Amino acid sequence: MGIQIAPSILSADFANLERDILAVENADWLHVDVMDAHFVPNLTLGLPVVERIAQVAPMPIDTHLMIEDPDHWAPRYAEAGASSVTFHLEAAENPVAIARDLRRLGARASVAIKPGTPVDSLLDVLTEFDMVLVMTVEPGFGGQAFMPDMMPKLRSLRARADELGHDLWLQADGGVARDTIAEVAAAGCDVFVAGSAVYGAADRHAEIEALRSIAREARTDA
Ligand code: DX5
Ligand code: ZN
Repeated sequence: MGIQIAPSILSADFANLERDILAVENADWLHVDVMDAHFVPNLTLGLPVVERIAQVAPMPIDTHLMIEDPDHWAPRYAEAGASSVTFHLEAAENPVAIARDLRRLGARASVAIKPGTPVDSLLDVLTEFDMVLVMTVEPGFGGQAFMPDMMPKLRSLRARADELGHDLWLQADGGVARDTIAEVAAAGCDVFVAGSAVYGAADRHAEIEALRSIAREARTDA
């Protein structure tokens, strides 16, 4: 799969959400951060808002669930219209069962790991997932500094997926911008989340294209 850009609406204007979604219509995905003030110390939005976003957005919805009890909640987001649902490994009781539920509902099944979580426990069950999200900041807030020491995780996941012949997408989230995206792409990332980089730019459309072209150049095999 080629390079895909997923702007995070965490940095959008929540009072003008539809306007800000349409401002990034050249994106491949719309990244929607769901936070519950328990798994992370911040609170954003939930099912009814995701359902409405999915109705107005011209691009598919990529939900990033930073919530407790994804075993119960993750499938509900697929039912609400999300095309990809990412839950956190640290919060899940049975990650493989969640992934199977998501696929059964027609969504892409994706699992996220925080900076302190190693990839090891995922390597034997990788084919159960369509994507792995490697957090490149501590989840909870936009605008934090990118953590380059997460790149070996992307490389290990890419190597294992290649070994298995599995078309796994890798996503990076946190601090992805013009000055960091080449390094992430070179480590094997496919799907790049960018919140403050895109929404902080005067021309969001142009920023997405700039990020896409830097990533394409850095990842010559994509
Ligand atoms: C943070 C969220 C991110 C956030 C990224 O917990 O998961 O999606 O919006 O923001 P930036 O791109 O500004 O680091
Ligand atoms: Zn996110």
